[in-house]
Amino acid sequence: MSEVLKALKERRSVRDFTDQPVSDEDLKTIFEVASYAPTARNTQAWRATVVRGLDKIALLNDEVKKANQKPGYERYRELAATKSYAINFHKAPVFIIVGVDQEKSVCQPEDGALVLGYLWLAAQAIGLGACWINQLGVISDEPEFRAYLTGLGFPVDHRIIGALALGHPVKIPSVPERKTDHYNVIG
Ligand SMILES: Cc1cc2nc3c(=O)[nH]c(=O)nc-3n(C[C@H](O)[C@H](O)[C@H](O)COP(=O)(O)O)c2cc1C
Repeated sequence: MSEVLKALKERRSVRDFTDQPVSDEDLKTIFEVASYAPTARNTQAWRATVVRGLDKIALLNDEVKKANQKPGYERYRELAATKSYAINFHKAPVFIIVGVDQEKSVCQPEDGALVLGYLWLAAQAIGLGACWINQLGVISDEPEFRAYLTGLGFPVDHRIIGALALGHPVKIPSVPERKTDHYNVIG
């Protein structure tokens, strides 16, 4: 099997990280790969904020929890109220928030999801591990949360599509059972 196909099949959600930091070089590599992600009409209108370091990610986590206490987030509120709830699973040393330009991107969730997928696959290909974290996309429009993100340099006109917790994996989890009945062929 080609190396690419093998890598696609081996990507996993990693939720357990060592305390080894992620280097600038590794970040550069995965973002260089992500710059090749397709976007509708080739707008390439996305931007990410990388939060590095447990202390900074802990502050971000507090902001997410605060936003989750508001009406409308019942699904997350109970979780967010627990002390152990954290967006940076087992102390991922890096947290990447991916947004798309709401003016320029003509297929916002699709563009952003592909970028996240490229980052995720690239990370695994160089020995890192990652996991998509959904909670930030849900609170993308919360004014107080947005103000906090703006302070981190996240563009005001970008919608959050998702985030990745990133780091060196303790181990790569085993593959969940695959469904196989995904397509039909006519002709
Ligand atoms: C759109 C999307 C949102 C996800 N959100 C979360 C999340 O918030 N927290 C989490 O632990 N995993 C999240 N995941 C990871 C999935 O649970 C995971 O991909 C799935 O269980 C299959 O496991 P695998 O990635 O190892 O193949 C998300 C995945 C996707 C594609």
